[in-house]
Amino acid sequence: MSELDLLKEKCENCTSCPLGQTRTNCVFGTGSINAKLMFIGEAPGEMEDLSGVPFVGRAGQLFDKYLFAVDIKREDVYIANILKCRPHKNRDPLPAEEDACIGFLREQVKIINPKIIVCLGRISAMRLIKPDFKITKEHGQWFKKGDYFMTAVYHPAALLRDPRKKGDMLEDMKSVKAKLDEI
Ligand code: URA
Repeated sequence: MSELDLLKEKCENCTSCPLGQTRTNCVFGTGSINAKLMFIGEAPGEMEDLSGVPFVGRAGQLFDKYLFAVDIKREDVYIANILKCRPHKNRDPLPAEEDACIGFLREQVKIINPKIIVCLGRISAMRLIKPDFKITKEHGQWFKKGDYFMTAVYHPAALLRDPRKKGDMLEDMKSVKAKLDEI
């Protein structure tokens, strides 16, 4: 069994926070173990909880359109979330839940060792880039953290709520593709 599969198994048996008791599936992450690019969202929603796969609901389907638009294949990247289990009624993750879960993400990043990490939305950016990250002001900006190039784009669910953000999202995703081609 690979290191990543072992970690997945550990995650599937995790009961470090109460969400472990209510999940249908642990949504560990999917994609290529050789990915140069990793997308990190917030937490699974209903469809993700039911399927065990990140970003497959309405927001995920919109995200797929942006991947297609900038010619990035889902199977070439790795997609994961800060939380691996669904918070009730899709509420924001609690800090204690993030603290309990973040070790899995850190291990995933270490194993996959991507060049670029893209945070999907404010919650992910605040946890992974900086606590005071302002998504409306700082989306699409690049940060170098250790070995990684990092940026944040709008969460696809935010685009469903406010379609005026879609132009910015396309520009930011083009910037991600350009960075990927450059490294
Ligand atoms: N929203 C997220 O942040 N992650 C998912 O996997 C689905 C919706």
